[in-house]
Amino acid sequence: MTTLTVLPLLQTLREFARDPDLLHLHDPTATERQWTELITTDDLQIWLISWPTEAETGWHDHGTAGGAFTTIAGRLTEHSWDGAEHIRSIGTGDAWSFAPGHIHNVRNLGAVPAISVHAYSPRLTTMTRYQLSGSRIEAIGVEQAGVQW
Ligand SMILES: [Fe+2]
Repeated sequence: MTTLTVLPLLQTLREFARDPDLLHLHDPTATERQWTELITTDDLQIWLISWPTEAETGWHDHGTAGGAFTTIAGRLTEHSWDGAEHIRSIGTGDAWSFAPGHIHNVRNLGAVPAISVHAYSPRLTTMTRYQLSGSRIEAIGVEQAGVQW
């Protein structure tokens, strides 16, 4: 009989992010964001993402998935929305998690490229895109796994 240990998402993320080889998987001179899917099961998806200076995701949620991310090089800035805008700075080694329904826009405002590791549970199947207009945010479309990414 196999015993399956299910770790909290943040702990699982930290285990994956510990691999020093992740720092060398992407081209550091790239001018667009780069993604590498590190693992995908129905219950867990982990991505490595690298961010040139000024790269950003745009406002989005993660469908039914909760998530966690950590920065392993550089610094990212997360703008999130829960009826008001909040700003969080995530420097190298910082990590945090969020529940399904979290809406954010992640940006590299730093002078050097950033690298981050992202975990989602369950795996990402949809992401709703949003537009922030003053003090309101509105959904502008839904992206589907296998279609838009
Ligand atoms: Fe996100």
